[in-house]
Amino acid sequence: MSADTHIPTRSEAWELFCKYNATESLRGHALSVEAVMRYMARKYGEDVEKWGIIGLVHDIDYEQFPQEHCKRSPTILSEAGWPEDYIHAVVSHGWGICSEVEPTHRMEKVLYAVDELTGLVKASALMRPSRSVLDMEASSVKKKWKDARFAAGVNRSIIEKGAGLMGVEIGDLITDTILGMREAAAAIGLKGSVA
Ligand SMILES: [Fe+2]
Ligand SMILES: [Fe+2]
Repeated sequence: MSADTHIPTRSEAWELFCKYNATESLRGHALSVEAVMRYMARKYGEDVEKWGIIGLVHDIDYEQFPQEHCKRSPTILSEAGWPEDYIHAVVSHGWGICSEVEPTHRMEKVLYAVDELTGLVKASALMRPSRSVLDMEASSVKKKWKDARFAAGVNRSIIEKGAGLMGVEIGDLITDTILGMREAAAAIGLKGSVA
């Protein structure tokens, strides 16, 4: 039975995400993307709660259905009573990879752009002596950007495509992503040795 359509709360979103995703790294990724989405929503004067919640759940079907990523999320979310625009946003992050849904809303373009980038920022932070995102600048990530063997799973071309959709420079996008991740540094394991 489907729940009535309603605006999900953050705690509802987290509970639902954790029900489908037990892996520490997937939960950390969800919290990273949430933090950046909140930061970006604040920067653009948009709905911080909504952007954060969508960032939090964007990979909800990944752990259980990796071969059908983005294909199962609509059912999971609609059965939980989530509104259509939330579902559209979640599915659009896989545009050209595992979904046909193009990011159109600004929120969707940001999600598309920062999803992979959080992985590169994390990997770069963990290479530093402090193992922290708190004292890291964009230049550290830019150096790693050019080394294709470093964090080879991070698809740089997706990030470039996302930056293009947003109409921002990669350097600025990296800076904003770092600033967003700093806000969740402890929760995502990137506080390191910085007091
Ligand atoms: Fe994904
Ligand atoms: Fe993701």
